[in-house]
Amino acid sequence: MKVLIISGTNHKGSTYNIGRLVAEKLTSAENISEVFLPRDFGEFCCGCTNCIVKGAEKCPHYAKLASVTELIDAADVLILTSPVYVYHCTGQMKAFLDHYAWRWMSHRPDEGMFSKQAVVVSTAAGAGMKSAMKDMADSCFFWGIPQTYRLGKAVAAVDWQSVKPEIKKSIEAKADSIAEKILKRQGKVPVPLKTRAFFRIMSLMQRNGWNKADEDYWKEKGWTGKKRPWK
Ligand SMILES: Cc1cc2nc3c(=O)[nH]c(=O)nc-3n(C[C@H](O)[C@H](O)[C@H](O)COP(=O)(O)O)c2cc1C
Repeated sequence: MKVLIISGTNHKGSTYNIGRLVAEKLTSAENISEVFLPRDFGEFCCGCTNCIVKGAEKCPHYAKLASVTELIDAADVLILTSPVYVYHCTGQMKAFLDHYAWRWMSHRPDEGMFSKQAVVVSTAAGAGMKSAMKDMADSCFFWGIPQTYRLGKAVAAVDWQSVKPEIKKSIEAKADSIAEKILKRQGKVPVPLKTRAFFRIMSLMQRNGWNKADEDYWKEKGWTGKKRPWK
């Protein structure tokens, strides 16, 4: 199983460490890749909409993003991690996710996404994990990933070393439970009704899509008919 951690900060704080903990429960170190933001990708979307309307390769940052996209495509499990910054994910995580708008189900989702699983991890000193995790889980859902698990914790600390042992114990228990579900579902990831229903609506809309790139893509895949990207 290949696991990719996308860390919403450059530093290895509580949030990264929790993401790594989950990853190591799933697979061995040689199968874990890591991307740090902004170290490995730090561009802001410039709003040209080229990616959506003309093609992903027309994004001015396409080449810079290509190696990360390859890692995403190769992974079975994506772990997106971000500390809470003013009740949301970090700016660099948001800027990164903005660059994949074209891959949303409303445009041109990659079929490989429909057999992946994802974990979103967030920590705060006190509060805001729910909205920060939603920032990341929304993209996972709209990319087509059928199962996304959430691990949010108020750690009452600003670094991993200062997190109290009892809090670490409850994190460990949650990580165990998520890892167990992922391992059980790997290879036959159930596609929930919400994904099926949203995909169906998109499939109807793409018969007369609002842009040619999307419409051609859906028709070529056969998704405007009965074909689906899952088994
Ligand atoms: C810019 C900034 C904004 C923050 N905003 C919040 C917040 O809204 N709520 C909160 O409880 N903690 C907030 N914190 C604290 C961090 O979320 C918390 O310490 C987190 O566990 C740090 O994770 P890390 O060790 O992975 O960096 C903020 C920290 C920073 C630097």
